[in-house]
Amino acid sequence: MSPTSPDTATESSSRLRCINCGSVRDRAGQDFRCPSCGDLFEIFYPGWHTPQGVQIAGMRAEDLKQLWRDRKTSQATADLSGVWRFRELLPALKSEPITLREGNTPLYELPRCAHAAGMQSLQAKHQGMNPTASFKDTGMTTAASFARQEGFHWVACASTGNTSASMAAYAARGGMRSLVLIPEGKISWGKLSQSLDYGAVTCQLRTDFDGCVRVLNELVKRRKIYLLNSVNPYRLEGQKTAAVELLEQLSWQAPDHIIVPGGNLGNSSALGKALVEMKDLGLISRMPKLSVIQAEGANPFYRSMREHGGAHLTPMQADTLATAIRIGNPASWKKAQKVLKATGGEVEQVSEIEIALAKAEIGADGVGCEPASAVTLAGLKKLVKGGFVKANESVVLILTGHVLKDPEFTLKFHRGDLFAGTADEEHAAMLVGQQRAPVVLDASVDAVIQTLERFDSHV
Ligand code: F0G
Repeated sequence: MSPTSPDTATESSSRLRCINCGSVRDRAGQDFRCPSCGDLFEIFYPGWHTPQGVQIAGMRAEDLKQLWRDRKTSQATADLSGVWRFRELLPALKSEPITLREGNTPLYELPRCAHAAGMQSLQAKHQGMNPTASFKDTGMTTAASFARQEGFHWVACASTGNTSASMAAYAARGGMRSLVLIPEGKISWGKLSQSLDYGAVTCQLRTDFDGCVRVLNELVKRRKIYLLNSVNPYRLEGQKTAAVELLEQLSWQAPDHIIVPGGNLGNSSALGKALVEMKDLGLISRMPKLSVIQAEGANPFYRSMREHGGAHLTPMQADTLATAIRIGNPASWKKAQKVLKATGGEVEQVSEIEIALAKAEIGADGVGCEPASAVTLAGLKKLVKGGFVKANESVVLILTGHVLKDPEFTLKFHRGDLFAGTADEEHAAMLVGQQRAPVVLDASVDAVIQTLERFDSHV
C-alpha cells in the first residue's frame, strides 16, 4: 500500500477537467491551462459516482467520519497532517507526502467581534495557525508533493507573500529548489523574510502581483519549472480540507455561513468545492452559504458579480493596505462564481478603514490576524446590516494569516499613522478608541503606576 493510500478503502483515481470546455485529461501542461481553450482545470474523481450514489470505495459517510476520527490517535506521518488525514478526498499520491503537520487549526469563539457585528455568537477558523502562518500550507503540502513525485527540481510562484513563504518551506522540506516572484515594495517584511530563510531564490519584480503572474506564466513555458500558484488544481485539493476539518470540528453540523477573503479566489473556490463534495457524499445534510469579501481597492470580483452576475470580469489596477489581496486580475474568478451560485453565498466589499477596525477587533478578542483576514469581519458587519446574515445564525470566519505576518500595519495602526497622508486621514479619527500605542516612560515605578491609573479610568 502506498504511504497515502486509504487504510480500508481502495484508492480513487482523479482526473483533470477543464472548467470551460469540459475536456478531460490525466495530465496538465506546465502552465496548468487547458490546451483546447486556455481555461483552468479542476480535479474530479470519476470513481465516486456509482449506481448506489456518490461514494468513495463503497464507504458510507459514517465510515469515512469514523476512519478520519481514528487517525487522530495515529502517529503515522500522513495521519499527523490535518490535510492527508482526509486523503480519501485527495488525488492518490504514490510517494511520501512533503508535510509539516499542516492543518489541525483551531476554531475560536470571538465574543467581542460577535458583539461588534451584531451577532449572538461568532466563530473563526484560524488558518494562520499553520506551519508557515497562513492557509497556503494546506494546499502546498499536496501540490509540492506531486511536484516532487513528477521529478521536478524547481518549483515557482508569483505571490503577494504568503504563497511564496509556504512554497519556499515545502520545497526546502522536499529537497527542491524554489523561485519566488514578488512585487517589489508591496509585500510585508515578515513574508519576504520567510522566503529568504527557507532558501528560495527571491526576485522582487518592479511590477504588481498581476505583473509577476504574467512573467511566471511565460517562464514555465520556457523552463522545466513546476508552477505552484493556485491555478494548479492540486493546491486547491489540499486547501479544500480546511472546510472538511471545520465541519468535523462542528460535529458535521453545517454552519449557516462561512465567510472568506477574496484575492486570487483560489481559497474560496477550494472551500466551496469541499462543501459541494461533502454534500454529495452525505457528510453534511445542508449547504452553508459561502460568502467572499474583497477590499474596495481590489474588488474586481465584487464588481463582476454585482454588475453582471459574474458573466465576465474586468481586470483592474488594485490597491489596498491589505497587501495579501492586492490583486486586480484574479485567476480563479470563474470557479469562485460557481461556488457562490452553488452555496447561495454573497459577495461584499469593505473599505480600508473598515478593514483596520475589524483587524483591531479580532486582535482585541485575543486572536489576531493579518489585514487581509480581517475583511471577513468587516464584511460580516455589512452582511448583517443588509439582512443577508441574521443575528441568531451561525457564522464561521476563515482567518487566513497570522497577526505576525504584517507587524508594520499593526504598529502604524496603533501609533495612529496608518492613514497619514491618505484620503482616509480624517475619517481615521474614528479608530482612536481601538488604538493602543506603546507608552515610552522613565524607568520608574511611579511612572508605570500613573500610566496604569490613566488606563484604568479611561478604558
Ligand atoms: N488572505 C491571505 C492572508 C492571503 O495571503 C491571500 C492570498 C488571501 C487571503 C486571498 O486568497 O488568493 O485564494 O483568494 N494570497 C496569495 C499569495 C495571493 O500570493 O500569498 P485567494
